[in-house]
Amino acid sequence: MTNPTLSIVIPTYNEKDNVLKILEKLKKVLRSITHEIIFVDDNSPDGTSAVVKDCMKKSSKIRLIHRIGRKGLAGAVIEGVFAANADLVAVMDCDLQHDETKLLDMINLFSKNNSLDIVIGSRFTETGEISEKAFSKIRELGSKVTTLIIKKVLNLASTDPLSGFFMVKKETFLKSSENLQTQGFKVLADFLATSRNNIEIKEIGYRFKNRIAGESKMSFLTALELIGLVLSQILKGRVSIRFILFCMVGLSGIFVQLFVTGFTMLLINQFPTSQTLGIIAAMTSNYFLNNTITFQERKLKSLDSIRGLFSFYLICSLGAFTNIAIATYIFGFSSNWLISSFIGACFGAVWNFTLTSTFTWKSK
Ligand code: GDD
Ligand code: MN
Repeated sequence: MTNPTLSIVIPTYNEKDNVLKILEKLKKVLRSITHEIIFVDDNSPDGTSAVVKDCMKKSSKIRLIHRIGRKGLAGAVIEGVFAANADLVAVMDCDLQHDETKLLDMINLFSKNNSLDIVIGSRFTETGEISEKAFSKIRELGSKVTTLIIKKVLNLASTDPLSGFFMVKKETFLKSSENLQTQGFKVLADFLATSRNNIEIKEIGYRFKNRIAGESKMSFLTALELIGLVLSQILKGRVSIRFILFCMVGLSGIFVQLFVTGFTMLLINQFPTSQTLGIIAAMTSNYFLNNTITFQERKLKSLDSIRGLFSFYLICSLGAFTNIAIATYIFGFSSNWLISSFIGACFGAVWNFTLTSTFTWKSK
């Protein structure tokens, strides 16, 4: 069997009502192109994978990667590209918001230019746009501002680095795959930043349409992950998005602690007790925030969540000792409380992160 010309990777999470619709549209557009369609589903509770399996009985062009115990759009896309048989891979959403008719134009650009690496479907070129109904005014504005900031901060040569619609040479994408983050929503921005200016990019404007069935998985959490991605890129990928989220939660804990300590001081005016309560409150809020944000795909529920809370308390108290020991040691020869305290906190954070991600939120 010869390889198809194009592989289309479609990440799905709760898209059961969109699978047939997108297949129909792709079938129409790709009549003259040999292709395969790879759905990457994270065990959607709505049964998306069952719908895909049904379609697979009728067409050998359709494939399914069914992931268990993992979540995340970026990781799903990366796995899809790895599994692709064609040299050209298109990535698009399942919800019909991306314009499948542009796939042909994208292929044409590749056939005209051998050194081209990626064609990005853009909402922000002269011919690109966002349909009035697709986004609320707030999200559209948010999307534009975020795009501008990301372009500037990461110095990216694309009008729409946050796009979820693009066609890429598999070889080029896989070259940087080891440096890409699997957590998060914005794999294209990560790919562009990781491959820096060593790739040739073209763009095609398209109209970002309204979602017909199901709902968007974009959330406050996705926004936090994006901040994590940008910071991780600024730090040259030396720390993961997950670690940055963990530190952001830790930072919020400082405020919780100050607030609770201050408040109990007002009530009982006893420092050690107030400080202890402040620390317990901070650890508790850190635990619940990490459980929903940092380790969302390993989220502990019901009884496991209580067990997790106590293992978190235990590990973080040991982390506090590490923090104090190291800070004291450094203060001994530097006499600079700020630097000593900061380095102590860094060690504490690494300790807490390493141990809680191994013991509290162990991957299955
Ligand atoms: N496998 C998997 N795992 N798929 C996911 C996950 C996940 O955790 N989260 C979302 N998806 C799938 C959805 O089912 C959908 O097919 C696609 O990824 C995009 O998710 P949406 O929830 O529809 O995102 P959006 O419309 O808000 O944003 C999309 O379009 C924007 C414009 O191109 C995304 O692709 C954004 O990255 C993009 O900026
Ligand atoms: Mn969408």
